[in-house]
Order: sequence, then C-alpha cells, then structure tokens
Amino acid sequence: MTKIITVDGPSGSGKGTVSRLLAEKLSFRYLDSGALYRVLSIAAMRRKVDVSNKAELSLIATHMDVIFKTSAQGDFQILLEGENVTSDLRTEDTGALASEIAAYTEVRTALLKRQRLFAQGDGLVADGRDMGTVVFPAADLKIYLTASIEERAKRRHKELIEKGEDVSLRALAEQVAARDERDMKREVSPLVAAEDAIELDTSDMSAKQVLETVLSLTEFKRLE
Ligand code: C5P
Repeated sequence: MTKIITVDGPSGSGKGTVSRLLAEKLSFRYLDSGALYRVLSIAAMRRKVDVSNKAELSLIATHMDVIFKTSAQGDFQILLEGENVTSDLRTEDTGALASEIAAYTEVRTALLKRQRLFAQGDGLVADGRDMGTVVFPAADLKIYLTASIEERAKRRHKELIEKGEDVSLRALAEQVAARDERDMKREVSPLVAAEDAIELDTSDMSAKQVLETVLSLTEFKRLE
C-alpha cells in the first residue's frame, strides 16, 4: 500500500517547499496539484479557449500531455506537450487564471483522476488545496499549513522577484488575498482543513523548522 501524506493550505503557506523536501527525504513521489491547474490554464490560453468554456477546459484537462520530471541537475520540471513550461507556471497571472478555472466541477473531476494516478510505489506527498479532503481522504497523515497574509505575500514576492518578475508587494498582497478568497469560498472542493488534519501556522517558522516538525509527525505515524 502506498503511504500518503497530504499537505494543503493557501498560497505562500510554505506547502510547496516543505512537500518537495519531505518527498525527497522520504524517497516518496511528489504531486504538485497546483501545477496541474496552472498547466491547464497555460494549455487553454495557447489554444485560445475561453476561460468560461467548461466543456472544452475539461476535455483539455483529460487529454493534455503533461509530464512531471526531475532533470539530471535535480530540478523539478513540468513539460506540456513536450515543452518545458516550468518557469511560465509560477507567474501570478497564471495562478489567478488557475484559480478561476479550478472553481469548475468539470475541470476538477477531470484532474481528479490524473492526481490519483500519482499514488504509486512506497509513498506520495501530495500538495494542494483539497488533497486531504477530496483527492486522498484516506491519507495516512494530513497537514494543513497556514501563515498570515503579510508573511505569505512577502514569501511570494521574494519568490517572484528572484524569478525576475516585477511586482509590488502591495499589489501582490491584494492578489494573494483575492485568490485565497476565491479558493475558500468556491462551492466545489473549497480550501479547508480536513477534520483530521494537523494545522501548523508557519508565519514565524523557517522552512527548515517546518520540515523538522512535519518529519517528526511522520516518525510518530511511522511513515518513514
Ligand atoms: O498551489 P498553486 O498556487 O500552484 O495553485 C494554483 C491555483 O490552483 C490555486 O489558487 C487553486 O485555485 C488551484 N488549486 C486547486 N486545488 C488544488 C491545487 C490548486 O483548486 N489541489
């Protein structure tokens, strides 16, 4: 049986970093479910599909050719129809579009199947918004990360500046807050902690501290 650890939370809560490191440490597979929503929005834009066209979006979600891989240099890469789209994925515009189409039931149903296919081998760390509530409700360990909006906006800002994107911290804080609101208030699979999730506020924690805390939880649950 594949052991499953879910890490959910709003953007900038640190879930991506901790999930990747955790998967590496435990030699588990890693699912970045947000990347699937992001890659779908890029595929839709490239095909000039209207973002309100749910039927077309769910068709693309089912058939698009997406490969997650780790390069020889150890970088995590995402290929769409064979093309490396990793750097286009992380922009705030792509995130906003992803959050818009993520509200459609048809899109979520199409991506659900793809996400469950990641549960193979010894273990999986799945990062997203509804990993513990909808995609892997029987997960062995569920973590829900939060952080203050100021801290989350600061982290996203640092990440985007490092990638060469020119955004003001204030505008970004507003965008992140608007995206959270949409993710938490949508009718289908809203962002919410699973009842049996362990919640961790990472506002005053370093990535290393978050990883150590989560690792001690995996030891406690004998998942390593
Ligand atoms: O985590 P990330 O910022 O890459 O996610 C982008 C968007 O994709 C989120 O704002 C959310 O709307 C959507 N998403 C989702 N369910 C997931 C992962 C991401 O709805 N499991």
